[in-house]
Amino acid sequence: MSQVPCVIGFGMSPWGSEWKLSARDLIAKAARETIKSAGIGMKEIEAIHIGAMTTGMFTGQENIGAYAADAMGIPGVPASRHEGACASASVAFNAACDDIASGRHKMVWSGGIEKMTDVSGDGATAALAAASEREFEADQGATFPLMYALMAKSHMAALGTTREMLTAVAVKNHRNASKNPHAQFQMEVTPKIVESSIMVADPLRLFDCSPITDGSAGLIVVSEDVAKSLGKPYVRVLGRALVSDQMFLHRRKVLHEMPGAVKATKHALDEAGKKITDMQAIELHDCFTIAELMLLEAMGLYEPGKAGPATVDGKTAIEGESPVNSSGGLKGKGHPVGATGAAQIGELFLQLTGTAPTERQIPKDPTVGMAMNVGGIGTMCGATVLEGVRK
Ligand code: COA
Repeated sequence: MSQVPCVIGFGMSPWGSEWKLSARDLIAKAARETIKSAGIGMKEIEAIHIGAMTTGMFTGQENIGAYAADAMGIPGVPASRHEGACASASVAFNAACDDIASGRHKMVWSGGIEKMTDVSGDGATAALAAASEREFEADQGATFPLMYALMAKSHMAALGTTREMLTAVAVKNHRNASKNPHAQFQMEVTPKIVESSIMVADPLRLFDCSPITDGSAGLIVVSEDVAKSLGKPYVRVLGRALVSDQMFLHRRKVLHEMPGAVKATKHALDEAGKKITDMQAIELHDCFTIAELMLLEAMGLYEPGKAGPATVDGKTAIEGESPVNSSGGLKGKGHPVGATGAAQIGELFLQLTGTAPTERQIPKDPTVGMAMNVGGIGTMCGATVLEGVRK
C-alpha cells in the first residue's frame, strides 16, 4: 500500500552573504539543524535528495549528491542531486516523497543548496540566465530581472496593477522577514525606501528583486508510521505536482500569466481533495514582487488584477485572511536558488504544526497550506499541499 509521505523536521543554515562558509559547511549546518528539529540521528537517514541549480557555475563544484552525503558525514547512502532551476529543491522533494510512498525508504533527507556570492554580480546574473532559454532569449540580453519586468509591464497595462501594489508586496515580505532570524534581510522597509531604490529593470527596482544568497535548507521525510511513532507534530504531504512549461517567454500568449503554475496548483489540490480557499498559509515564489501577484492569480486565490489590491488592503499579511510568505519570502528571507523550495515547505511545516516562532506564527493557527516553487519564468512549477498533525 502506498505510504503518505510526512515531514518531521526542518532546518536551515544561515542565509545571506556567507563568505566564511563553503557550500559544504552550509549543507552540514542545514543537515544538523534538520536532524535536531526531527529528533533523530544523522545515521538514521537512509537516502539524500538535494536540489542544486548551477553549483558548477557558482562554485565549480558538481557531483553534489556525493558532496552532500560526505558533508553530512554519511557517505555510503544513496544520494542524488536534482535540478529544475529555482524549483530544484521541489524536484528533490518529489523524489524523496516517491522514495517514501513506494516503501523503498522510511527516512530520507531532502533539501537544497546554492552558494551564489563566490562570483561577481555579473557572474551571478550569467549563472542564473542558464536557467532560461539560452539561444534566443538569454544570449540576447534577457536576464531574469528583465523578463519579470516585461511581465510586470504587461500586468500593469492589462490589469491596472500599480507601483503601490508592487511596493506593498515588498513592504509585507520585509516585515515578515524582520521576524525570521534566518532571513537575509531582517529589516522592515517603508514604501519610500522601496520606491526610491535604484531601478534594476523598469518598473522593477532593487526592492522588487530577491537577492543573491548563500544558503542551504533541509527536511526529513518519512512514512506516516515513523512520524506517528515519534509522538511529535508533523505534516502530511496531501498533494504534490511538478509541471514543466515552454521555455520561451516570447512565445507565451499572455506575458503576465503562468500556465505551469495554474496546472501545478490544480493537480496538487485535486490530489489533496482541497480547494485553494482551504489554504490557510501559502509560501510562494516572490523572486520579484510582480511574481507574487501573478502567482496568487495563477493559483486562483484572486481573480486577475485583484491580487494587488488585496495585498494593499493587508489581506495577505500574517494577520490577514490569506497569509502569504510568513517566512519573509524570497524577497526578505533570501533566494539561494537550489534551496528555496525546501525552505518554503519548511516554513509551512513550522506554521502548520504551530511551532513557528511566536512573533511570526499565523494567529489563526493554520492546519492546511500550500507551497508554490517556480523555476525560471515558470518553466518548472512545484506545488505542494500539506496538512499539519498537531499533538
Ligand atoms: N533587495 C534589497 N537590497 C539588496 C538586494 C535586494 N534584492 N540586493 C542587494 N541589495 C543591497 C545589498 O545588501 C547592498 O547593500 P549595502 O550597500 O547596504 O551593503 C547593496 O544592495 C548592493 O548590493 P550588491 O550585491 O552590489 O547588489 P547588485 O546591484 O550586485 O545586485 C540585484 C542587485 C537586484 C541585481 C541582484 O540582487 C539580483 O540580480 N537579483 C535577482 C536575482 C535573480 O534573478 N534570481 C532568480 C530569480 S528567477
